[in-house]
Amino acid sequence: METRVGLLRNVPLFQDLSHEELLAIAPLLQENRYNRGKLLFMEGDPGEEMFLVEKGVVKIYRFDDEREIILALIGPGEFFGEMALIQPSANRSAAAETLESCVLYSLSRSVFYEFMEKHPRICIRLLETTMQRLRNANDQIYNLTFLDVRTRLIRTIVRLAEERGVKLGDGLLIDVRMTHQQIAGIAGTTRESASKVLQSLTEEGLIVIENKRIFLNDYKKLKEMAGL
Ligand code: CMP
Repeated sequence: METRVGLLRNVPLFQDLSHEELLAIAPLLQENRYNRGKLLFMEGDPGEEMFLVEKGVVKIYRFDDEREIILALIGPGEFFGEMALIQPSANRSAAAETLESCVLYSLSRSVFYEFMEKHPRICIRLLETTMQRLRNANDQIYNLTFLDVRTRLIRTIVRLAEERGVKLGDGLLIDVRMTHQQIAGIAGTTRESASKVLQSLTEEGLIVIENKRIFLNDYKKLKEMAGL
């Protein structure tokens, strides 16, 4: 249980809880392991639990017959599935699928409500995350409305590097394996258009793609090109 408490300590949602309080919450979490590409739930499903990510990355997305738009990637220390939990009449607002092999902890509505009532600081942390997600959604609306495909794609790469990049030599590696289709899904474009831009950025020596991971040779220049 101590290992689990160590993990919970790195979850910003629980950062105000004491060691004893984390010890109380730890046994109430259900651990689940999933392979890459596992559909966790669909948009519109009822939702009785929320999830914390211990390891891996989960894709939150909506789709129609032809295309999908990725709303967010949720990584270690982050959570998802709280919206249907808090608004039971509204069901899941988007689908969730693992992008890599994942270790997730699920938390039932009754347990989460009990903890929110006992520790109101959790509500403030929840609000902070929700506001950041609203800001990101506003950015996504802005980008889709006002920016051309190339700029949107460069912005996507820069944002991913900021959120999930690890320093490697003089550059930054986005440490998540992603297909062109998935990158297109974040930037809100087609796979063909995304592939063209990725190809030209590679030819310009700004990025290298290896084993589905993007390495940014020149983060500063890309940020400038993205108008950020
Ligand atoms: P829920 O609606 O239960 O299921 C889908 C989950 O995806 C949702 O809870 C949130 O946790 C998450 N989610 C939905 N929309 C966004 C968004 N725009 N940004 C980040 N996460 C989101």
